[in-house]
Amino acid sequence: EDDVPHVFVVFGASGDLAKKKIYPTLWWLYKDGLLPKQTYFVGYARSDLSVQAVRDKSTQYMKLQDDEKDKFEEFWKYNYYVKGSYTERTDFEHLNQEINTLPKGDLAHRLFYLALPPTVFKDVSSNIRLCCMGHEGWSRIIVEKPFGHDSESSDDLSQHLSKLFREDQIYRIDHYLGKEMVQNLMVLRFGNKMFSPLWNRDHVQCVVITFKEPFGTMGRGGYFDESGIIRDVMQNHLMQILSLVAMEKPASTSAEDIRDEKVKVLKCMPPLDLDNVVVGQYTGDPEGQGDAKNGYLDDPTVPKGSVTPTFATAVVFVKTERWDGVPFIMKCGKALNERKAEVRIQFKDVPGDIFGGQCKRNELVIRVQPQEAVYCKMMVKAPGMNINPEESELDLSYGARYKGVKMPDAYERLILDVFCGAQLHFVRSDELREAWRIFTPLLHKLEKEKIKPAPYKYGSRGPQESDDLARRFGFIFSGTYKWTKPQL
Ligand code: BG6
Repeated sequence: EDDVPHVFVVFGASGDLAKKKIYPTLWWLYKDGLLPKQTYFVGYARSDLSVQAVRDKSTQYMKLQDDEKDKFEEFWKYNYYVKGSYTERTDFEHLNQEINTLPKGDLAHRLFYLALPPTVFKDVSSNIRLCCMGHEGWSRIIVEKPFGHDSESSDDLSQHLSKLFREDQIYRIDHYLGKEMVQNLMVLRFGNKMFSPLWNRDHVQCVVITFKEPFGTMGRGGYFDESGIIRDVMQNHLMQILSLVAMEKPASTSAEDIRDEKVKVLKCMPPLDLDNVVVGQYTGDPEGQGDAKNGYLDDPTVPKGSVTPTFATAVVFVKTERWDGVPFIMKCGKALNERKAEVRIQFKDVPGDIFGGQCKRNELVIRVQPQEAVYCKMMVKAPGMNINPEESELDLSYGARYKGVKMPDAYERLILDVFCGAQLHFVRSDELREAWRIFTPLLHKLEKEKIKPAPYKYGSRGPQESDDLARRFGFIFSGTYKWTKPQL
C-alpha cells in the first residue's frame, strides 16, 4: 500500500481558484511532508499552458520562504500539465494515458479536483467516469460550489453524480468545515459538562451566526450576481455552522453518525419565510477610500439594476424539543465595517433580578475568524471598593493560549482529508438537499418578485432593518461591552 502512488488532478488549472487556493495548498501539504510519498500533480485545462505557466501564476500565493527554494523545485518536478477540452472524450482518454505513464500510474489512487464553472461540470464528471478512473487504486472526486442554484438544479446535479460515483467517492467542499473553530464545535459541545445543560430553549434566548467582510465583490460581480449572498454564504457556510450548533449528540464521532445528526436538524427546519428576512445591497460611500466609493451597481461586471442581495439577515427556527421557539439569526454581508465570522449564543435574562436591571445577558461567543477565540461574556463585581455588577469575560484567545501553534488553512485540512478518505468535513447529498429545501422558496420569491434590497453604505454595519429584525426576535445588542486585549 505504501508504494502505491497518488495522482491529484486539478481540472481548471488555469483558473482563479487553482492558482489562489489549490496549488498553494498542495505546496504547503507537500512541504510539510503531509502527502503520501509519490504524489503526482496533474493540471488540466483548455488553455495552452505548461507547468512553468501554472507555477508562474500561483507562486505569488504560496508564501514561499527563503529556505524552501530546493524543496520548491522538487515539488514542481512532481507536476504535469495536460491541455484538453472539457467535452471531448478523446481528450480524457489522453489524460488517462498521461496518468498511466507516470511511475506505476496505472495502479495509482486518483483524486480529481473540479475547480470549474458549473457549465462544464456534468461533462467533466461524466468523462472522468468514462475514461480516467483508477484501475487498481481508488478514485475520489472533489467538487466546489455552486452545487446547483435551487432544489431542482441541485437534485439534478446530485442525481447526475450519483449515477457516476458512489457517495463515498464524492467530496463536496464547504471550506467552512475546514476551519478550526467550526471543527471545535463538536468538542466544545460534547466534551464539556458545563455547556450541555444550558444548550436548549430553557436557557438560550437566541443564537446569532454572523459572517462579515469589509470588501465588496471587486470584479467578481459577474459570478456573484448569479448567486447573491444567500447562496454564496448563508445556504452553505452559515447553515453548516448552524447544524453543528443545533444538532443532537451523535452516536459516535464517525462521519456518518455526525452527518446523520446534521441532516436530522435540517429536517426539523421549515423553509425560510420572507417576513423573517432582510436583504440589502451596498452603495458607494462618497467619503470612502478607493473601492469604498463604489456601490455594488458600480461594478462593471454587475448587470444594471440588479436586485441581487449582498447582505442578508434571516431568522430560522428548529422545531425540535430542544430548540422550539428559539430564533437562529443568520447574518452575512459584503462591504461591511469589519471582517468577522462568529457564533453568538445569547442566554436569557437572570430571573428574579436583584441588581436593579444592571446585569447584561451572558453570551458564549465562538469566534471563527479572525483571531480565533472562545469567550464568555459574564457579569462580575466591578473590582475594588464597590459592589456594582460589571460586564467582563472568560476569554480563551487562541493567539495567546496557543502561541506558536500552526493553524492549518481550511483547504489544507480538507484536501488532506480526501487523501485519507475522511468524509466528516464534507457535505453529504441528503444534507445538501435539505439545505436547498429550506432556502429555495425564499430565493424563488425574491427573484420572481424582484424584491428590492435595502441599501446600506459600504463600510457600515448593514441596513438598519437588519438590526430591527434581530431585535424583533429578542436579540439584545447593548453595545456596552468592550473587550480588552489581554496584556501578554
Ligand atoms: C466563499 C465565498 O465561499 O467564501 C466568498 O464564495 C467569500 O464570497 C469566502 O469571500 C469567504 O471565505 P473566508 O475563508 O475568507 O472566510
